[in-house]
Amino acid sequence: MSGDNSFVVVANRLPVDLVTHPDGREEWSPSPGGLVAALSPVLEEHQGCWVGWPGVSDAAPEPFRNEAGVLLHPVKLTEADFEGFYEGFSNATLWPLYHDLIVEPVYNNDWWDAYREVNLKFADEVAEVAAEGATVWVQDYQLQLLPGILRQLRPDLKIGFFLHIPFPSPDLFRQLPWREEIIRGLLGADLIGLHLPSYVENFLNLTRQVSGHTGSHTGQPDELQVSGEPKVREIGAHITAADGRRVGVAAFPISIDLSSVRQPAVEEITQLREKIGSPHTVMLGVDRLDYTKGILQRLLAFEELLESGALDPAEVVLLQIATPSRERIEQYRVARSQVEEAVGRINGRFATIGRPVVHYLHKSVPKSELSVYYATADVMLVTAFKDGMNLVAKEYVALHGDGSGALVLSEFAGASQELDEAYLCNPFDLESLKRAINTAVQALAQNPESAQDRMRELHEQVRTHDVHLWASSFEDCMAGFSGEAVHTPSGDTPGGSSGRVAGKVSRD
Ligand code: ADP
Ligand code: F6P
Repeated sequence: MSGDNSFVVVANRLPVDLVTHPDGREEWSPSPGGLVAALSPVLEEHQGCWVGWPGVSDAAPEPFRNEAGVLLHPVKLTEADFEGFYEGFSNATLWPLYHDLIVEPVYNNDWWDAYREVNLKFADEVAEVAAEGATVWVQDYQLQLLPGILRQLRPDLKIGFFLHIPFPSPDLFRQLPWREEIIRGLLGADLIGLHLPSYVENFLNLTRQVSGHTGSHTGQPDELQVSGEPKVREIGAHITAADGRRVGVAAFPISIDLSSVRQPAVEEITQLREKIGSPHTVMLGVDRLDYTKGILQRLLAFEELLESGALDPAEVVLLQIATPSRERIEQYRVARSQVEEAVGRINGRFATIGRPVVHYLHKSVPKSELSVYYATADVMLVTAFKDGMNLVAKEYVALHGDGSGALVLSEFAGASQELDEAYLCNPFDLESLKRAINTAVQALAQNPESAQDRMRELHEQVRTHDVHLWASSFEDCMAGFSGEAVHTPSGDTPGGSSGRVAGKVSRD
């Protein structure tokens, strides 16, 4: 455990946002997204330092330690940085490109300049705070140049990089006018982590294709080994960067902190059910309001099932809890208005006075409240068109260790690789979505034992693959790369029967 800045995480966002109330009072509130949910417990365990943006432009609060003992080090972004780096290059260029062009990416030179400038800014902050020889773990697509810049500024650091979103196929990535710079930036790391083996393969294929430009060289994947637990094939490979360093690339499926999951009291669940009209079936969607999440498709499928009589509006309720996200970006505005129009239309058609069929919240809710929604829901709908992992699916499963409930899960969410006992669907095909929802509802009603077996199996997968395993696998693998003795908490030999990723990447 550090506490001395020997373990530094750098992410675009801090785990808290600075909120200014109309009366001028300032308050820190939890910031959105899966990255924060996953990394918070890891940082707490390390008592580490977290470098990131405080969620509002032009604010530069002093570093402070939060109540969990994590040192938060805010990075100031100007309004111009916010527009060019965050809204522009990160979320209107990279986000759609890495999510398989669900909307069209915009390529804009000024945004690229802003992205570079802000990556330099983050690098200066990290170079300033990280202890000699510290481990620095760079997070996500907003900071892909950071490993390369840090490598130059602070060659003493051990640098890891983890991408929380999908890594696209080389054909898509190669559209990016600044592709070589991004690859070079990433290759500054000692270890690059991605959620899934398929993303690793995309990255390796890409570096093969553009190696002439980046000076890198990709070896053959060292051995595509299947671990003791076959749900996700763990693969590792190495690339030789332009400066001759060996860079590891491997799959580490992210997860949740099961120990922090609070099972609500039975009364809380009963109260919620009563509040929404005591329906026979409660369905639930929980997402950032993002066009990648397939919220509109899920509403359309629900509407058609009501229309056809497959679902009875007197017996079913859908709760949709949507966190506001990236609200000034055009495609997010469009997604929100489409969702809200559909909610209004469905209620207009199928609700009765005092009894909506869709309850829609456009806000972030506390974790304790969220767990009541999860525990109450009979059917969870995760219908993303593309999602790096999707922690919501795992959070739902975590609350159903008793075998209750059913998970409808998009086959395009990374989580489907592990949670393959869910009712899988193709959200691009409304019939497939409807079929999966129907099957889940029918299974609960007619074949509860089989539904329970499936949920118990899902729960076992999440229970045995939590975020602490994710973090320690990554850290062990990093240690292996920097030539230090690899240590696993269980004492297993890396690469042995423990199934850890460490040791799967060649170190010779
Ligand atoms: P992403 O990182 O793209 O937002 P994930 O599903 O991986 O998607 O993670 C979302 C995280 O945000 C989860 O931890 C989930 O509990 C949380 N979350 C989503 N919607 C809400 C909401 N309305 N209120 C509070 N937390 C939310
Ligand atoms: O995991 C994807 C991710 O984009 C994170 O990088 C990010 O912190 C989170 O979702 C929420 O998005 P934003 O920071 O843009 O609100």
